[in-house]
Amino acid sequence: AKNVGILAMEIYFPPTFVQQEALEAHDGASKGKYTIGLGQDCMAFCTEVEDVISMSLTAVTSLLEKYKIDPKQIGRLEVGSETVIDKSKSIKTFLMPIFEVVFSTERGNTDIEGVDSTNACYGGTAALLNCVNWVESSSWDGRYGLVVCTDSAVYAEGPARPTGGAAAIAMLIGPDAPISFESKFRGSHMSHAYDFYKPNLTSEYPVVDGRLSQTCYLMALDSCYKSFCHKYVRTEVQETVSIFLYNYGSQFSPNVASTFGYRYERLEGKQFSLSDADYFIFHSPYNKLVQKSFARLLFNDFLRNASSVDAIAKEKLGPFSTLTGDESFQSRELEKASQQASKPLYDAKVQPTTLVPKQVGNTYTASLYAAFASLIHNKHSELAGKRVVLFSYGSGLTATMFSLRLHEGRHPFSLSNISTAMNVAGKLESRHEFTPKKFVETLKLMENRYGAKDFMTSKDSSLLSPGTYYLTEVDSMYRRFYAQK
Ligand code: ACO
Repeated sequence: AKNVGILAMEIYFPPTFVQQEALEAHDGASKGKYTIGLGQDCMAFCTEVEDVISMSLTAVTSLLEKYKIDPKQIGRLEVGSETVIDKSKSIKTFLMPIFEVVFSTERGNTDIEGVDSTNACYGGTAALLNCVNWVESSSWDGRYGLVVCTDSAVYAEGPARPTGGAAAIAMLIGPDAPISFESKFRGSHMSHAYDFYKPNLTSEYPVVDGRLSQTCYLMALDSCYKSFCHKYVRTEVQETVSIFLYNYGSQFSPNVASTFGYRYERLEGKQFSLSDADYFIFHSPYNKLVQKSFARLLFNDFLRNASSVDAIAKEKLGPFSTLTGDESFQSRELEKASQQASKPLYDAKVQPTTLVPKQVGNTYTASLYAAFASLIHNKHSELAGKRVVLFSYGSGLTATMFSLRLHEGRHPFSLSNISTAMNVAGKLESRHEFTPKKFVETLKLMENRYGAKDFMTSKDSSLLSPGTYYLTEVDSMYRRFYAQK
C-alpha cells in the first residue's frame, strides 16, 4: 500500500467547560497565571453522564456516519487511552457493539484486530503507528484501520488542576490518504522517569512532578529531534546515491557512491531544519510548553548552524552557545531569549495548530491530534503539498517525532471534507459554560463515582447534542450501560 495515513477524522469534546480566567480567580491564583502563564483559554470536562467510553462511542459512530463507512470495512481498531476504567477489559471491546450488530438479520463484523495501548499521553500515537504499520505490512487484508484516542484529564486540587481537559478523536487509516506518513522519518526517545504516573488505583488523579515533567518533555523533544534529523539526512543521502547510481551505472563501487553522496549532502546543505516543514505540532499539556518546545527546536537549529536561524535570532541566541546540555535546560534566560527569537516562526508554523488545545485543554492521548485538527480547521484550503512534523510525548516516558505529507485528496477523504466533518467552530460555539464552583462540585461527585458500582446517573442529556452517547448506569457487577441521545 502506498501513501498510507489518515483518510478521515472526527473529534468530540464535552460541551461543558470552565473559563481559565474564572478558574484563576476562584483558585486564588494571580491574574494571568492560567491564561498568559500557561497560555490556556478554557478547559472542557466530563460531567457524570460522560466518560472516555461514551466519548469514543460518539466519535466512532459519528465518523462512520459522516464518511459513510460500512462497519464491515474496518479490519483493525486500536484505542489509545490512559484513563483506566477497567484493569483488564479494553475500551476497544466497549466499541465492538458498533460493529457486531449491523441489522438483526445480518451478521456483523467481529473480525477486527487490535486492543488498547497505554503509556500516559503517548497511547494514541502507539495506536496510530500500529495501524499505519499494519496497512503497510504483509498482514494487511485491504480493509481500513481505525484509531481512537480518548481521555479525561483531571487533576487533584492544586497547580496542575488548570491543565486538565477531555476529548476523543477517531481517525480512519488506509492507503492513498490526504494525510500520509513519511514513515522513514521517525525519531523516538524512551526512558524511565517518575514525572507523571498513576500508581494509586483507587483514584483517577495522577501523581505529578510538574517541573520534572516539563524538563523530561523538553529533553525527550531534543533527543527525538536529533534522531529525526539524523534519519532525514540518511534517507536524503540514500536517495541521492540511488539517483547517482541510476544515472552513472555501476562503474563506481557503493563506497565511492556513498562518499559522493555525503559530499553532495554537505554541498547542498541537506540537513533538516525548521525550514523543511511548514507546520510543527506538539503534544499540548498547556500552550506555554508548546511555545517553549518550538523555541527549543530553534535553539537546536542554532547549535547546528542550520539555515532556519536568521541573523536576528543568531544574535539573541549567541550568548548561550557555550552552555552544556544540562545547563541549557536549566537556563531561564535561554528559555526567554529563544522564545523571543522563535516568535515570528512560531506565529507562522505553530500558532494555527493551537486552537483546540487552548480551548479544550490537555486531552492526553488526543492532545496532539486535537492540535492537528486545529490546523486542518484553520488552514485546510492551503495545506496541499505541505509537510507537518509532529511530536508526541507520554510521561514515564515515551516520545516520538514523525512526519506527515498533506495532499488535497478526493471526496470524502479530502482535507476540506475532513474540516467540514469535524466542525470544530460549531462544536466550540455550542458549548455551555460552568462556573468554577460547579466544576469543582462535578469533580467531587466523579471522585466518589470512580471505581464505584451500583449507581444510576442523572441520565440528563439536555446539554449534549443529538447522537451523543452517555452513561446511564453502572450495575452491581460493575457493568456499564450507555444510551445514545
Ligand atoms: N501572569 C502571567 N504569567 C504568570 C503569572 C501571572 N500572574 N503567574 C505565573 N505566571 C507564569 C510563570 O512565570 C510560568 O511561566 P514560565 O514557565 O514561562 O516562567 C507559568 O505562569 C506557570 O507558573 P508556575 O509557577 O511555573 O506554575 P506552577 O508550578 O504552579 O504549575 C505546572 C505549572 C507545573 C505546569 C502545573 O500546572 C502542572 O504540574 N501541570 C501538570 C503537569 C504537566 O502538564 N506537565 C507537562 C508534560 S506531561 C503531561 O502532558 C501531563
